Amino acid sequence: MSSGGLYWPAQALQQELAAHLPGITVEVLDTVDSTNSELMRRARAGRREPVLLVAERQTAGRGRLGRTWHSDGPVADAARSDGVAGAASGALTFSLGLFLAPQDWSGLSLAVGLAVARSLHPALQLKWPNDIWLQGRKLAGILIETASFAERRYVIIGIGINIAPREGTGLSTAPAWLQELLPGLDAPAVLQRLAPALVQAVLLFEARGFAPFHAPFQQRDALAGRAVVLSDGTVGSAAGVDAAGALLVHTAAGMKHITSAEVSVRPAGSLDGPATVGPRF
Ligand code: BTN
Repeated sequence: MSSGGLYWPAQALQQELAAHLPGITVEVLDTVDSTNSELMRRARAGRREPVLLVAERQTAGRGRLGRTWHSDGPVADAARSDGVAGAASGALTFSLGLFLAPQDWSGLSLAVGLAVARSLHPALQLKWPNDIWLQGRKLAGILIETASFAERRYVIIGIGINIAPREGTGLSTAPAWLQELLPGLDAPAVLQRLAPALVQAVLLFEARGFAPFHAPFQQRDALAGRAVVLSDGTVGSAAGVDAAGALLVHTAAGMKHITSAEVSVRPAGSLDGPATVGPRF
């Protein structure tokens, strides 16, 4: 499928994903407000089949806690010397929607982040609970939302990945982009590499919870051993995550397990604003 100048191998990908998740469809839109919002609207309207929805552009992309997810395309070509292609390849933005019934939802965002990092590059790290970092800069973010229908929970896993350089407007630290590591890889190629790993990780999470992801997460934990500041003023040293995916922080008052939706954490000395902790998935 061709959309906005990019070629998306939607049909081949659909076949590959259907081997793991029967009935899934893959759909690519030119433009939508937000792939998460679109799947939530569809789910509320009764369209709850498993789906992978990609948008080349989002006009109202959302991040956690009401923030905006900017996928404003790459730095203007005129300002660039390396000629990376136009706005549509600046970011990969998509959402996976499906019913899921894990015994415990704790750690889902960590499992998703791990699937993203593992499928793309060994240098990628995970910033608890929802971000993927490259050398201390944010490369990708995850927004997980759910809705209940007749006691079943439909989950929408939204992922935004910077593919090419983009404006860092409003950010104190410039964002990272994937072509720093993998020059030549465009958004469709990234999706093809990532989506099967994501679907398999989500199904493994449903069957076994966070346990199989615990050790691999620790290997990519960007905060491990670092001084961190919590939004309630507590300072400490990050010490990995527990079996449920809660962040462990050594503090003067002992070890804290950070699970609250209200608490945020950032590396001490970082210029970044606090990364507020969203719902505990
Ligand atoms: C964050 O960093 O706070 C999460 C960012 C999540 C962005 C993705 S892009 C695809 C999906 N649609 C959205 O509106 N948001 C997510």
